[in-house]
Amino acid sequence: MEQIDFVKSVKDEIKDKNLKYVILTFGCQLNENDSEKISGMVEEMGYTKTETFEKADLVIFNTCCVRENAEERLFGKLGEIKKMKEERNTIIAIGGCMMQEQSMLDKIKKSYRYVDIVFGTHTIQTLPEDLYKVIVKNEKVKEVWDIDGEIIEGLPIKRNDKYRASVTIMYGCNKFCSYCIVPYVRGRERSRNPEDILNEIRELAKEGYKEITLLGQNVNSYAKDHFKYCKPEVKSEIDTFAKLLRAVCSIEGIEKVKFMSPHPRDFTDDVIEAIRDCPKVSRMIHMPLQSGNSKVLKEMNRGYTKEQFLELAEKMKSGIPNLHLSTDIIVGFPGETEEEFEDTLDVVRKVEFEQIFMFIYSMREGTRAAAREDQVSEEIKHQRFDRLKELYDGQVEKQNESYIGTIQDILIEGSSKNDETKYTGRTDSNKVVVFEPNGKEKIGDITKVKITENHKWFLSGEII
Ligand code: SAH
Ligand code: SF4
Ligand code: F3S
Repeated sequence: MEQIDFVKSVKDEIKDKNLKYVILTFGCQLNENDSEKISGMVEEMGYTKTETFEKADLVIFNTCCVRENAEERLFGKLGEIKKMKEERNTIIAIGGCMMQEQSMLDKIKKSYRYVDIVFGTHTIQTLPEDLYKVIVKNEKVKEVWDIDGEIIEGLPIKRNDKYRASVTIMYGCNKFCSYCIVPYVRGRERSRNPEDILNEIRELAKEGYKEITLLGQNVNSYAKDHFKYCKPEVKSEIDTFAKLLRAVCSIEGIEKVKFMSPHPRDFTDDVIEAIRDCPKVSRMIHMPLQSGNSKVLKEMNRGYTKEQFLELAEKMKSGIPNLHLSTDIIVGFPGETEEEFEDTLDVVRKVEFEQIFMFIYSMREGTRAAAREDQVSEEIKHQRFDRLKELYDGQVEKQNESYIGTIQDILIEGSSKNDETKYTGRTDSNKVVVFEPNGKEKIGDITKVKITENHKWFLSGEII
């Protein structure tokens, strides 16, 4: 049977029952995008979405394992819903990155027997079959494929937002940073056919989407695998990330294009030029630093030095007017000394990132860094985190002030949570802006807003 037949069988089996599902997503935007596809499939089978666990007949967890706290949250939630399962026989399905780890899979099989379905990141498309087995055959499904499957196109998708859409352009990661588990759980880099990507975005434009985020663990490695996981064979002139970016920008109706995440090592001049030439590309670029010290960067296997990162940041800022950078930083990598950590602070002072996602190093079993004996103590890791945060908070304060009096293009996302009479949206650099409606512009429009006040966590302004 094909997956579509399983969809039909489940649909027949559950029709008129008014069954509901809830999906809880952990981790990055790639997981969010997978969850949209999972939702697309289960809705095709006849389930409707609910946000309340107690009302759900099917609970789906899409897991992350990049840091320890993501795991703790899953096990907490699983414990909570055990009773619910006993009372209403809720079907529980767990998928995502954590299920690609043998030790976690074993833990679920052994200690969480009441889980019905386990699926991996390579096999979300078999969920209809898994559900069929549980519902029609009364079996449990706990097998996870451990291979880099070919790319599956054409899954139904239920998007979370009406104006902004994410489009995964490549799966997996080949970089093997020594702290990171992603290459082990997501497999090798697999680029999608550019024509499939562009068709998807053309459709989105027709449906009224204005903003597209291109997703991948290293978007600027796009096409470096020569599309060997695509079937049929790819024949396209679009064979670099820069060319894809230009092609996406030429699609009518799409007004803003973002991407996440590029790797500094692959940030070649053609990408900088494509951004410079295409005004639709957001001027907020995410450029993960991880550490500001060359020795630590080498041990992390990042492929650049402190000086090279600074040079790249400078080149980007001088090559692209009004550019803002955001970044990811890990504190307390094994063996990181006080002086080495200070290099990170030094880069933060020099680059003045607009946004910093800060992480305390978390040991991931199976990675090279986890095997090191010179782990940094929890106390020092937390102290360094606080120092970095303090430096960053001061910079944000200064940056916010510099927005006052400027005019920003803002996509109106909806009403403000704190004051329903006002609209909210974000600047291109991701700062939240709250402003009064003017009676003309509506949700989903892009409007010009003059920034008038800094409220620390957000800015306010007026439509001009
Ligand atoms: N591919 C992307 C991001 C992957 S995960 C990139 O290279 O930028 C998102 C972030 O989680 C990473 O950038 C890193 O800062 C952080 N991270 C990954 N593994 C981690 C670990 N073991 N401990 C703490 N932070 C980690
Ligand atoms: Fe992890 Fe490095 Fe790959 Fe990013 S580039 S996903 S940090 S291994
Ligand atoms: Fe987490 Fe997997 Fe993303 S480990 S960060 S959900 S790729």
